[in-house]
Amino acid sequence: MTTTADTLILFGATGDLSQRMLLPSLCALAGEGLLHEELRIVGTARSDLSDAQFRDFAREAIETYLPAERRGGIDDFLARLLYQPLDVTTPEGYAELAAKVGAKEKGDREVAIFLSTAPSLFKATIEGLAAHGLADEHARICLEKPLGSDLESSCAINDAVAAAFTEDRIFRIDHYLGKETVQNLIALRFANIMFEPLWNARHIEHVQITVGETVGLESRADFYENAGALRDMVQNHMLQLLALVAMEPPGSFEAGAVRDEKVKVLRALRPIAADESVTGQYRGGAADGRIVPGYDEELGRDSETETFVALKAHIDNWRWQGVPFYLRTGKRMPERVTEIVVQFAPVPHSIFPGARLKQNRLVIGIQPVENVHLRLMAKVPGIEQDGMVLREVPLDITMPDAFTGKVKRIAYERLLLDLVHGEQTLFVRRDEVEAQWRWIDAIRKTWADEGQTPKTYNAGSWGPSAAIALAERDGVSWHE
Ligand code: BG6
Repeated sequence: MTTTADTLILFGATGDLSQRMLLPSLCALAGEGLLHEELRIVGTARSDLSDAQFRDFAREAIETYLPAERRGGIDDFLARLLYQPLDVTTPEGYAELAAKVGAKEKGDREVAIFLSTAPSLFKATIEGLAAHGLADEHARICLEKPLGSDLESSCAINDAVAAAFTEDRIFRIDHYLGKETVQNLIALRFANIMFEPLWNARHIEHVQITVGETVGLESRADFYENAGALRDMVQNHMLQLLALVAMEPPGSFEAGAVRDEKVKVLRALRPIAADESVTGQYRGGAADGRIVPGYDEELGRDSETETFVALKAHIDNWRWQGVPFYLRTGKRMPERVTEIVVQFAPVPHSIFPGARLKQNRLVIGIQPVENVHLRLMAKVPGIEQDGMVLREVPLDITMPDAFTGKVKRIAYERLLLDLVHGEQTLFVRRDEVEAQWRWIDAIRKTWADEGQTPKTYNAGSWGPSAAIALAERDGVSWHE
């Protein structure tokens, strides 16, 4: 499907995601002339706002969250906005929404619908849209996470959406796929000849994926308490990163080809054993530049929700047999960092007696610094009597330095533009989401069966010491 949408309907238009990400992204795209002139944006939410009030709301959001130098053309952008108050669970309001979208003949219009609301409202919303002719073959729908809390609830959401939309019209967001460096990972692997021959179990010893955050619970107690780090971060973002690192080269950079390869990896994930996971929950400490309370103090009650998880994963296929993938993510870590570390095997034979050869290591920094760092061994300059002295040197590429003058984008910009153009490569297909949940459900079952509860760790540390031991017992240190 490549038709361009002429209307974008934003459900949850006054919500947090809309304020922080969606409206600023759309304004930035419009300012750069990337949204075609005719595209109108209809916001909807329960608040009783007029078009003018919604425009004021949008202006404030944009002025708060989009840097001033990217706000060119804000007035023209605001003029595209309309608003329709709507309680998605009642029939009122849908007819007015349809009227705002335009009473064009079917076939004359293409609507993109973005559901930035709680998934419990998806079914009612889709039924309301369908009853008013807005969920047909001229509409596409975009869904925000969480897409369920386990395989069963995820299937229920997917079934409700599939009742009205074919898979080529369903766009499931994983905002990590909109990040420049995540896309760059695909470029690095498949636009260079040098990595692919080494990208396998013969030459790679292990892979690490870290997503550290300095923030804590923030104001999301209800959501987070029922999610935890495994479901909030690993089920989606981290497994997507893992799939991109581990997938076979796709035949093209097209939605079907890329997603076929990712899903094969996700299906090949081996269920993890009880001793291959560590969970943690932060207690008070120094993080984010200040003294912060512990998770249960923030929550106001005791809790067994994990705010940290470390896993040792395996991919059961030829390419990755015997290569552990260490994953860790947590709140209240010492720094905000997302990175992928590929640790290459040792050279098969050293011709430098006495020299300690460090293994080559590729570090792909996703945020906050977008960089690629390759550790190589080199000779230390000088004339030595008893053999060459070797030391590791970095080969560093920092993306903002390599491509000066490029703006730093919000991940949603790419994804919203692709939604409008009907391009699905950077969205997650149903079979991927379900393979992700299947693996995650098995981990949670293991925790329940083993009675595994989170160990505490100090805010501002890299998680419980057991997480360090998880890697160290294999002779591996987490990259820092
Ligand atoms: C979201 C999670 O999906 O991703 C949050 O729900 C997390 O808990 C966020 O903070 C991290 O995203 P980013 O882009 O800041 O790494």
